[in-house]
Amino acid sequence: MTGQRPTTFYIRTYGCQMNKYDSEIVAGILEEQGLREVSTPEAADVVLINTCSVREHAEQRVLGYLEQLRPLKAARAGQRLAVIGCMAERLGSRLLEAKPFVDLAVGPDRYRELPRLLGLGDGNAELSGEAETYEGIWPSHRKGVSAWVAVMRGCDNFCSYCIVPYVRGRERSRPAESVLEEVRRLAAEGFVEVNLLGQNVNSYHDGRHDFADLLLLVADVEGIRRVRFATSHPKDLSEKLIEAIASHPNICPHIHLPVQSGSDRILERMNRRYTRSQYLRLVERIRARIPEVALTTDIIVGFPGETREDFEQTRSLVEEVQFDGAFVFRYSVRQGTAAAQLEDDVPELEKIARLEELNRLQKKISLRRNRAYVGRKVEVLVEGPNRKRPGQFVGRTDTNKIVVFSPSVPIEAGSFVRLRIVEATAHTLFGELEAEQGPPRVACLTEQNPDAQPWER
Ligand code: 5AD
Ligand code: SF4
Repeated sequence: MTGQRPTTFYIRTYGCQMNKYDSEIVAGILEEQGLREVSTPEAADVVLINTCSVREHAEQRVLGYLEQLRPLKAARAGQRLAVIGCMAERLGSRLLEAKPFVDLAVGPDRYRELPRLLGLGDGNAELSGEAETYEGIWPSHRKGVSAWVAVMRGCDNFCSYCIVPYVRGRERSRPAESVLEEVRRLAAEGFVEVNLLGQNVNSYHDGRHDFADLLLLVADVEGIRRVRFATSHPKDLSEKLIEAIASHPNICPHIHLPVQSGSDRILERMNRRYTRSQYLRLVERIRARIPEVALTTDIIVGFPGETREDFEQTRSLVEEVQFDGAFVFRYSVRQGTAAAQLEDDVPELEKIARLEELNRLQKKISLRRNRAYVGRKVEVLVEGPNRKRPGQFVGRTDTNKIVVFSPSVPIEAGSFVRLRIVEATAHTLFGELEAEQGPPRVACLTEQNPDAQPWER
């Protein structure tokens, strides 16, 4: 297609949910230019890799994939290869020098420029830049029952280890009306669940509405049966938000509340701006008001200067809180962040040992918490058939627990069913059908992977 206008694109996404959402924005922008998405890079005129910089490992995976693409590109004359997202922002021209077969590097606030950069026309680039909220762009949502909607972009917290404020820029909120417009369109398309997304949703403010106000507005949209949100910074989680969750059955009682460390000394060095005891008191307040709440967290082990004693503090916090799930990461130096000035002094093997220790502990706790569901009746939103086991279906509770069950007739994705939980592992609940809400409906088209967690990155 040398010299010709591209007609097809392929996009591959690494990293967090925000990146997945951004890929839908990019797909929306390209589809508006008449391009069609294809499912393999071999078949595409434009290949886009949406990248993540949060840890070294994420960047290594992208670099490895780029090398795989190199021969494909050589075999397809005129194919353009674009690296987009956080790595493009962080490395910019350095990436183009290191990988000369890459044509474009485009950061998260410049996607409106893609049509022009790809020679498709002018696009609508005048709004592009650090205030970008992608107003007026309709993301090309993947089919399913649950959709993600970005309500804010960027982050101003500058946790000392984190690259996000440098690659995604300053915090900015989308006007509530624009979020509502997107949610209404999703409801009209048949989505029954929305997941409001931001690096730190609790500091959302559009000048008139804070995050609790926004949640209530979204919860009232006709057709939306469940509202979720992520991620919550503990320092900004308000009583008003707790009250909103407690008083609205369709706001899901699940809070992803990254603690990062249980040691005050390390929390201070991380610039998290709360103490261990403040975090524990917050958990107490949440549980007092929302007893059924599920809490999940992120933890970094091996931060510079983390002693065995500091780690024991994290371990004991995990014991004390009894999270439903925890994502544990080894500290990874990010050049340009404040923590990069500190010596990365915890040996790699020790980081791995601490990570495995926490994972073992959390697995026991997850199992204990899931077993408490056995015998209970829960409402489950059906996501589709289990890809791995024909006849089985997969859904989620409002607390975001994955439930597997085997109905006698297929059930359509998007239905709600009542299940009695009969068995539990650390990752999955197993249920039996109590009664279906409404007549059973056939034909199930979406295939789901029961192992994928929505907050997984
Ligand atoms: N090293 C390791 N983990 C990190 N995270 C963010 N930056 C780093 C880093 N430099 C983790 C945090 C955050 C999650 C998204 O990634 O736990 O909550
Ligand atoms: Fe990174 Fe902290 Fe912002 Fe989360 S809150 S994106 S960890 S700087």
